[in-house]
Amino acid sequence: MIPVPRVAVIVVAAGSGTRLGGRAPKAFVGLDEHTILRHALRGVFAAPPAQVVVVAPEGREGDALTEVLETAGDRRDLVAIATGGSTRQESVRAGLRAVWPDVEIVLVHDAARALTPPAVFSRVIAAIDGGAAGAVPVLPVIDTIKRVDGPAILAAVDRAELAAAQTPQGFRRDVLDDSYAVAQEDFTDDAALVAAAGHSVAAVEGDALGFKITTPADLERARGLVSPLPAVQATLAHVPPLPRVGLGTDVHGFGGEGSLWLAGLEWPGEPALSGHSDGDAVAHAIVDALLAAAGLGDIGTHFGTDHPEYSGAHAEVFLARTHAILGEAGWRIGNVSVQVQANRPRFAARRAEAEAALSAALGGASISVSATTTDGLGFTGAGEGVAAFAVALIVPA
Ligand code: CTP
Ligand code: MG
Repeated sequence: MIPVPRVAVIVVAAGSGTRLGGRAPKAFVGLDEHTILRHALRGVFAAPPAQVVVVAPEGREGDALTEVLETAGDRRDLVAIATGGSTRQESVRAGLRAVWPDVEIVLVHDAARALTPPAVFSRVIAAIDGGAAGAVPVLPVIDTIKRVDGPAILAAVDRAELAAAQTPQGFRRDVLDDSYAVAQEDFTDDAALVAAAGHSVAAVEGDALGFKITTPADLERARGLVSPLPAVQATLAHVPPLPRVGLGTDVHGFGGEGSLWLAGLEWPGEPALSGHSDGDAVAHAIVDALLAAAGLGDIGTHFGTDHPEYSGAHAEVFLARTHAILGEAGWRIGNVSVQVQANRPRFAARRAEAEAALSAALGGASISVSATTTDGLGFTGAGEGVAAFAVALIVPA
């Protein structure tokens, strides 16, 4: 059993939110997946234990009870609901009637100040414990303030004398009861009502997060402050990963030792290409296209000259390793299209064989090989070397 608390918080949530212009009463407008009221109550229940009286719009008492029970945690026995009146002051009065007899300190808080940090509640309570009859969180006024009469500026007002009042506003219970008992007119806040009854009210430090959600712009600000990143992440998490494409090219010049290796095949009688490995430009272009598609660097990252184990290696070694790297990263190969630019060798007779060899090294992926000459132009046209261009599509495994 939680002992009966000596503090009560009246959360006034019975306004209609005319200036916000939403479809629901303001306290029930959503900030994220939760309402303004829910966020306000989170702050209240993170503050020192207190009886919590939620003043709801007439007809929305059940919704308010649901919100408060969802937020109360192990303080569920401390909650009460009251029905609001036609003005804020009437709503506070209704809340005050629901405060338990043993309560000594009453805080009145606007649900519309949904992001008020719990520390503000503690500061208000501490001021009253320190002897104040009432305490109000305030912020310094930043703008220069003018006294005006229509379009005419009459005088500057020294802003050092001014402060902007927030909630929760806290009072000794007897002071608040007495002040409400004698209040005749409608006051702008509880501090003004209590001051009019002859009591002095202290100022404590407010918090910029305690701003009141009044206009649509305020609502946008509050929505931006309510953990925007998880919201974005939640949205992204529901987007299935897209397929990705990658481009790879490679060039090798003739002049190597031994026989020609190209597209995973040995070509007896053809001049060899030079290179750190066997100079297989087709295989290297495919490796680059696949790594680029996965965003995993390029051939130099994984097979550079600082990896002597790949010196003299043939295509199947590079391709099998690339296939494994992609698999570890969660990718499957959709297909690869590679084009060779060279006068020699002639691919037509061995195209299927080349596709089969490359495919086997890539775990059976679909590979198409095409070849072209360049009408005698450029280094491939001059027979100096071979160029290869590959495009790869990969999909989430
Ligand atoms: N409030 C209330 N009962 C009322 C009027 C206001 O409980 N009859 C509450 C609001 O729910 C809000 C707080 O007092 O939490 C501050 O009021 P305000 O920001 O003016 O809210 P609304 O009155 O709802 O908005 P508007 O004035 O734009 O209609
Ligand atoms: Mg109002």
